[in-house]
Amino acid sequence: MTYNKAPVDFSTYQKQCQVRVDAALELFLQTPRSELQRLYQAMHYSVVNGGKRVRPMLVYAACEALDGETERAQGAACAVELIHAYSLVHDDLPAMDDDDLRRGRPTTHIAFDEACAILVGDGLQALAFEALSDNRFNPSQAELRLQMFAVLARAVGPAGLVGGQAIDLEAVGHQLDQSALEVMHRHKTGALIEASVQLGALASGNAQDSSLRALREYARAVGLAFQVQDDILDVESDTATLGKRQGADIAHDKPTYPSLIGLEAAKHYARVLHDQALSALHGFDQGAEPLRALARFIVERRH
Ligand code: IPE
Ligand code: IPE
Ligand code: MG
Ligand code: MG
Ligand code: MG
Repeated sequence: MTYNKAPVDFSTYQKQCQVRVDAALELFLQTPRSELQRLYQAMHYSVVNGGKRVRPMLVYAACEALDGETERAQGAACAVELIHAYSLVHDDLPAMDDDDLRRGRPTTHIAFDEACAILVGDGLQALAFEALSDNRFNPSQAELRLQMFAVLARAVGPAGLVGGQAIDLEAVGHQLDQSALEVMHRHKTGALIEASVQLGALASGNAQDSSLRALREYARAVGLAFQVQDDILDVESDTATLGKRQGADIAHDKPTYPSLIGLEAAKHYARVLHDQALSALHGFDQGAEPLRALARFIVERRH
């Protein structure tokens, strides 16, 4: 793996990825007919609204780490962000976390209505798979594409993200031990992050078993670290910075890392996971710099 592109600083890299994925996302969010205008408007509202785009960045960065052309990863980058946006819309519903603020704006069920928000989530989830099936944005090999479908479907289904959300809701008001909390976090948040890295690697067309193994280890660590940091920010950030209500976990009596092991221990754990992610990449050259920078961003981010 040689990396002959000029290295860029992380904020430039982040901006480039955001512009690239946002341009492609727009193509999936155009209203096909006037009767569907409100639904599409609500989907657009839920996707194009200042998200950090961490999961698409992981897709691109994993593809680049294996010397792949990022054009081949464009469908996967859109797909993971569409799934993520759907999961947030449903996560905020009154029957789930009952939140009224997301990315600095009223949540979808507040800005539109609850039935509309449910349909927005359903629609975005289906659009994610449409993005993976789009010939313009994916590798042409049929077998590889099928493999990518399976990776995403497993990660976001009942044995992944949806299962994690079910565990989360059942856990409200209960004290979980650390291993149960880890299982919940690895499902509700880790699974999609792991899939993002795997999809980027597969899209490169250059994935070998050994590199996939190393990238999976990296992704497991950053996937858990991401939710540990999310829990930490709920305690120590503020609503304006977060763009969502600070203290929502405490108000809903959610089991979190700070509530279980304390704030300082949670911060230490995020660091440990960051270091684990970096050591998983020890066999990679400069091409994995964006992945390394992302690991750091995930544990140092303030929102
Ligand atoms: C928030 O995800 C929800 C979790 C899975 C913890 P992000 O922090 O990536 O949210 P956006 O996309 O930047 O709004
Ligand atoms: C969200 O977890 C996980 C999914 C959306 C799948 P949280 O409930 O902690 O996310 P925030 O804090 O509302 O963004
Ligand atoms: Mg939740
Ligand atoms: Mg929530
Ligand atoms: Mg949270």
